[in-house]
Amino acid sequence: MLADVLRYLRCPVCAGDLSAEERALRCTSGHTFDVARQGYAGLLTGNASTGTADTAAMVAARADFLDGGHFAPLAELVAERAAARAPDEGCVLDAGAGTGYYLGTVLDRLTGHQGVALDISKHALRRAARAHPRIGALTWDVWRPLPVRTGAVSVLLDVFAPRNAPEFHRVLRPDGVLIVVTPAAHHLAELVGPLELLTVDPRKAERVADAVGERFTPSGSRSLELPMRLTHKEVAVLAAMGPSAWHTDEAALRARIAALPEPVPVTAAFEMRDFDARPES
Ligand SMILES: C[S@@+](CC[C@H](N)C(=O)[O-])C[C@H]1O[C@@H](n2cnc3c(N)ncnc32)[C@H](O)[C@@H]1O
Ligand SMILES: [Zn+2]
Repeated sequence: MLADVLRYLRCPVCAGDLSAEERALRCTSGHTFDVARQGYAGLLTGNASTGTADTAAMVAARADFLDGGHFAPLAELVAERAAARAPDEGCVLDAGAGTGYYLGTVLDRLTGHQGVALDISKHALRRAARAHPRIGALTWDVWRPLPVRTGAVSVLLDVFAPRNAPEFHRVLRPDGVLIVVTPAAHHLAELVGPLELLTVDPRKAERVADAVGERFTPSGSRSLELPMRLTHKEVAVLAAMGPSAWHTDEAALRARIAALPEPVPVTAAFEMRDFDARPES
C-alpha cells in the first residue's frame, strides 16, 4: 500500500514529506502527484524520457514467463539472501522492479518489511502495485535523485536493472544491504546463436563491481544456473521479455524458433552479489 511507505519517501521536487489524499500524493509545499486507478503513484511528471522503459508487450511477456515459475529459484535465492542480511524492519526498495516479482517474493520472506517498487514503465508498475499487499509502486527514473529519504532503505534490490550508485548509497541505511542480480555471460547461451539474441557482456559482473565499488564493498556472491526445457511458445515469450525484443523482427524470430527442437534445452545463468555501504568519508 502506498500509504504505508510514505514515511520512506520524499517529494521529488522539494524533498518535503508526502501524504496521501484521494487518488493523489501531496507534499508539505503543495506539489501533487496522481495515483493511477491501478494503485501506483506517478512521481515522474513532465517531459521524462522513457526510452528504456519496458513496453506493454515486454512487460506482458515477462509476467507470463515468470508465472511459469522458471526463475522461482532465483527469486528464492534473492529472498534468502535478503532475509539473512536485512535489518529487522524497514523498507525494501526495488530499483527497476518490473512486475514486482522479486520484491513480492522477498516480502513474503521479510514479513515485517514494506516494499517500494520503482520503475520507469507504467506498464510494469500496474502489475507491481498489485504484486504484494505491502508494495507501494512509483514511476521513477533511477538515474535521477531518488524520491526516497536519506538512510531510509534496509534492503535495496537491483535485478537486471540500471544502477545509480551514488543515490543507492544515499538512501541505504548504514546497516542495510544492496543486492544486485545480473545475467551471467552464458545466460541463455543455447538461444543466443540460433535466435540472434544480444549477448551478455562477459565483463558484466566486473563492471557492476566497478560501478558501485567507490561507495560499496562486496559482501557476498553466488552463481545460479537453471537448466530449463522450454516449449517454442515459452522461448518466444522469453525472447519477447528481454533486451533483444527492441531489435528483433517478430516474423524472423518465429521462423528461427520453429527451426529449434522441442522442447528446447536452455540454461539461465545468473550472478547475485551483495554489497555493504562504505561509511561516508
Ligand atoms: C530487464 S527488466 C527487469 C525487471 C525486474 N527487475 C525483473 O527482473 O523482473 C528492466 C526494468 O528496468 C526498467 N527501467 C529501465 N530503465 C529504467 C530507469 N532509468 N529507471 C527506472 N526503471 C528503469 C524497465 O522498465 C524494466 O521494467
Ligand atoms: Zn514538494
